[in-house]
Amino acid sequence: MKKKLALMLVAAMTMATVVGCGGGSEDAAPAAAETETEAPADTAAAETEAPADTEAEAPAADGELIRVGFAQVGHESDWRTAATQSAQTVFSAENGYELSFVDCDNDSAAQLDAVRNFIQQDMDYIIIDPIVSTGWDAVLTECEDAGIPVVVIDRTIDDSDKYVSWVGSDFKVEGLACGEWLAAYAKAKGISEINALVIEGSTGASATIGRTDGFKEIADREGWTILDSQDGDFTEAGGQEVMESYCQSYAGQFNVVICQNDNEAYGAMTAMDAAGVTYGVDGDVIIVSFDSNKPAVQLVLDGKLNATFECNPLAAPTVDEVIKQLAAGETPEKEIYMAEAWLASEDIVPSITVNGEEQPIIHVTEDVLANRAY
Ligand code: AHR
Repeated sequence: MKKKLALMLVAAMTMATVVGCGGGSEDAAPAAAETETEAPADTAAAETEAPADTEAEAPAADGELIRVGFAQVGHESDWRTAATQSAQTVFSAENGYELSFVDCDNDSAAQLDAVRNFIQQDMDYIIIDPIVSTGWDAVLTECEDAGIPVVVIDRTIDDSDKYVSWVGSDFKVEGLACGEWLAAYAKAKGISEINALVIEGSTGASATIGRTDGFKEIADREGWTILDSQDGDFTEAGGQEVMESYCQSYAGQFNVVICQNDNEAYGAMTAMDAAGVTYGVDGDVIIVSFDSNKPAVQLVLDGKLNATFECNPLAAPTVDEVIKQLAAGETPEKEIYMAEAWLASEDIVPSITVNGEEQPIIHVTEDVLANRAY
């Protein structure tokens, strides 16, 4: 089985066209938590391998389950929960998969271990959502040597191209969109001065790097002041802690809070409520988030969150297509971008243009909220 897979992987890596990428848990546990959805690891490892010189069938061509190992970032946010649930649904036994899921709890060393365990277990495919964007080449080389195709999902790997496909979001575009919306919104509202506080996601994550860089590019162009930019770890507790400290250090000095995910925004709101700072459409502070989970979109509808910039967590069905292409001997795209929407509370910025592409700003209504998938 592995020999044919190895040949397919090499072919895919050689032929794939790079189209150009624009782009914690509160109490990190030392070891990753693994959930075997089907056979335990040692049972699976006991499977008889085809001899090296035997031309074997592609996985599942003979009705066998396709064995997939998924090294997930953790469970830090609602977005992450939606992504995990989507993967567990797509890579189910009824869909022809045997999924080994590892929650790496935002621990990079545990994530590398998880991938190496998948190699030991001779998985048919490995899916990685990289906690950080660097430090990957050695382990991806090991995957390649073992003939196991790797599909990267969500965050990017920036120091190795030894994977078949990446499926995810353009985080820099998300940050640029946030900045362009804020520029247009401030103009429409007659706000001439922006003093922003940024609550970043986890340090080293490509989602953090892209959103930070994109927003900063527009801030520099517009001459805004970014008073501070600190790591909130993509968690509600992290967002609250950073905002509590901002409320003390910058009391009365800020009129914008950029939260790099929804959960951080929930925490920031708790901190601002406690400090007596008003925010949202009727408040003194403009607050925005990334992700656009349904509870955040509800807050946009309520006018508590001015805008939210979607990061689509439902990449697993596309990864399933990539795996099916590989199994059929086809070459998937090297980089596949998720479609994403920008949503706002007020209907005063109809559209924005990012990288030359105009995209509508969706005014959130009851209907928009009802139609959100997650
Ligand atoms: O990598 C995607 C980011 O990670 C999401 O914005 C965030 O919610 C998650 O934790």
